[in-house]
Amino acid sequence: MQCALVSRGFDLRDYYGKAFDKVADRIQMQSHPADDPAEVRMAVAWHPPADAFDRYPNLQAVCTIGAGADNVLACPSLRPGIDVVRVVDPAQAEMMSGFITWHVIWHQRRFASYLAQQRRSEWRRLPQRAARSVPVALLGYGQIGSRVAADLTQLGFPVLAWSRTPKSMPPGMRGFHGGDGLFAMLREAEVLVNLLPLTPETRGILNRDVFAALQPGGYLIQVGRGEHLAEADLLAALDSGQLAGASLDVFAREPLAGDHVFWQHPKIVLTPHDACDVSNDALVGTLLSTAEAIETGRRPPGAVDRVRGY
Ligand code: NAP
Ligand code: GLV
Repeated sequence: MQCALVSRGFDLRDYYGKAFDKVADRIQMQSHPADDPAEVRMAVAWHPPADAFDRYPNLQAVCTIGAGADNVLACPSLRPGIDVVRVVDPAQAEMMSGFITWHVIWHQRRFASYLAQQRRSEWRRLPQRAARSVPVALLGYGQIGSRVAADLTQLGFPVLAWSRTPKSMPPGMRGFHGGDGLFAMLREAEVLVNLLPLTPETRGILNRDVFAALQPGGYLIQVGRGEHLAEADLLAALDSGQLAGASLDVFAREPLAGDHVFWQHPKIVLTPHDACDVSNDALVGTLLSTAEAIETGRRPPGAVDRVRGY
């Protein structure tokens, strides 16, 4: 099967060349624009150019190289009927959980203050707080959120989680859904972790109302998508002390501009969209199952609901 590699700004082979090699006997990767476009039935894409898919009249499915499919779904040349397949990867969920846990504990154990004290050669013990006194709210209780919730619960943090549909939660966690559920959850929470997909409903959700509803001195861990965040509202909440700090991994414009105020902000910890990539093994599985589904006339596993947006 012929598969087009479609991305803007970076070469997919640099990241996932080993995965592409592993499937080479079944799937022939063609750099976009492919020489024989009518033969292309699937694509691997990340931030595709607006007109990218116009070239492929027989395209049936586009695989992302991530958990989030937003940037492919937003492509204007994605015709109705083309499936968009995301990677569902337990190994990614495990690593995301480690990343998020580090930031929760960074806040709980006051490491930002200790780092500042160290820079001043200042020996001063700060009050310790048990995990059970730091409630963590998760926006999103899907593939990744449910893993994060389980791991934080194990460490003793009270976990609250918000989803679109109601869930039955394991012992030690509480679930919320809908607009009222969101604010009921936030009022009880100190740390807020964003693990939502970017959809028309979730765009801009990290805003002043949400920050104001958290317990004073709260903390934001933003690993969803940059467009979830109202940047000016975050800066205001940090300035007022409503938020003690924020860990940001994703940004509306990536790479983040060199002169962006976030870089030097004393209350912000920043990483370059690096919380966790999907593993080669998971991508290989997704590519093979997508090719097989196309060949047998089925819907590929992992195909997102294009109307719902995730
Ligand atoms: P997922 O399995 O699709 O889970 C999404 C969760 O969000 C579900 O619980 C869903 O509710 C909930 N949700 C969606 N729309 C909602 C709404 N309007 N109101 C309330 N809840 C809503 O996705 P995932 O695999 O966990 O990944 C989540 C996101 O994490 C990705 O889309 C991506 O943005 C981000 N991510 C970032 C990185 C990084 O490196 N920074 C890495 C991986 C993923 P239901 O359960 O009711 O459907
Ligand atoms: C990374 O951002 C992903 O969606 O996997």
